Amino acid sequence: MSRPLVVDIHTHVYPPSYMAMLRARKTVPYIHDPVNGEPRLIILSSDDDPAIPIDQRGRPVDSSYSDINVKLNFMQQHGIDCSVISLANPWLDFLEPPEAQKWAEQINNDLEVTCAKHNASTNPDKTLPLQGRSTLFAFAALPLSAPSPQIIVDEIKRLKTLPHIRGVIMGTSGLGSGLDDDRLGPIWAALEETQLLLFLHPHYGLPSEAFGGAEATGRYGHVLPLALGFPLETTIAVTRMLLARVFDEFPRLQILLAHSGGTLPFLAGRIESCILHERKFVQNGGDVPGPQRSIWGVLKTNIFLDAVVYGVAGLKAAVTVGGGTDRLMFGTDHPFFPPLNEGEKEWLSVTTNYKAIDETFEGEKDTVAAVLGGNAARVLNLE
Ligand code: URA
Ligand code: ZN
Repeated sequence: MSRPLVVDIHTHVYPPSYMAMLRARKTVPYIHDPVNGEPRLIILSSDDDPAIPIDQRGRPVDSSYSDINVKLNFMQQHGIDCSVISLANPWLDFLEPPEAQKWAEQINNDLEVTCAKHNASTNPDKTLPLQGRSTLFAFAALPLSAPSPQIIVDEIKRLKTLPHIRGVIMGTSGLGSGLDDDRLGPIWAALEETQLLLFLHPHYGLPSEAFGGAEATGRYGHVLPLALGFPLETTIAVTRMLLARVFDEFPRLQILLAHSGGTLPFLAGRIESCILHERKFVQNGGDVPGPQRSIWGVLKTNIFLDAVVYGVAGLKAAVTVGGGTDRLMFGTDHPFFPPLNEGEKEWLSVTTNYKAIDETFEGEKDTVAAVLGGNAARVLNLE
């Protein structure tokens, strides 16, 4: 039996130029090099607590974050044929406005060149199928802090001309005040027009007090912000887009949600019910134009979900709201969640997701193949 094509649509890099930029910084996000030991990456504000000794803040950051060869080894070890690499959080959100365009162009060009060079080395005549060799594509980053939205729109249009860019990755802060911001209209329009996929990914989480503040960080590390803050952030961001009628105005917008949509699949019914019972909205007798489209329709036509949810229940919810299995795509979240023991080659975070897919779609060979790679190849036109 031939094994199916495997495409990883959730896999991050910090290109070397980005690492150098983080090393030059002293405020979040930054990289700190202790006198002894590995460099540390401090990207969550909850990590930057003066009560935590500087050499212990954040998490270790090794070459897996920036060296593409380490990712290629990881792909080979885990049976991944193709990766759609994306800059990791917090992307370019923190840049001073005059710097944003320059860095976006540099990082996006770096990503394009990395993919082009690698693919040319494994498939010089461009005749081989995706399966059985390693191929790279990328989601680009946007200069969201640029002084004018037109700069962002122009970058989206430029990205459409780069052969290995298949979409853009974005956090939930938009231009600084969330994704229900009317000023994002031209950006949604440009994404709609170019049909570049928007990969929506969390970073900011919830205020650390929601989890018990610094004391909780000291006791529980990253469990609460990553397990709960990230998924809720995604859920809130998409719900705000829905409430702001973004999907009414831009019905062809295509979005891939990280971590199987956070908690959106599970909460969709409750969100819809709260909208239908909200007196503020015109349709219910109020004075604010509420969303016209049902969340169920949006989930089936505008939203794709990754399969980075580590369990059968989450995958079942994802395919239930997607109206089938053609909107779900395998991912790893590499290089985050590495094995804790040195020398361990197999990543538990990856095998858990493989196992959950096998268990959820047991006996459905075609569905497993679609989720592992077929859907991504179709949606992102990877062939
Ligand atoms: N996954 C990510 O993409 N980013 C993090 O910071 C942690 C996990
Ligand atoms: Zn991620």
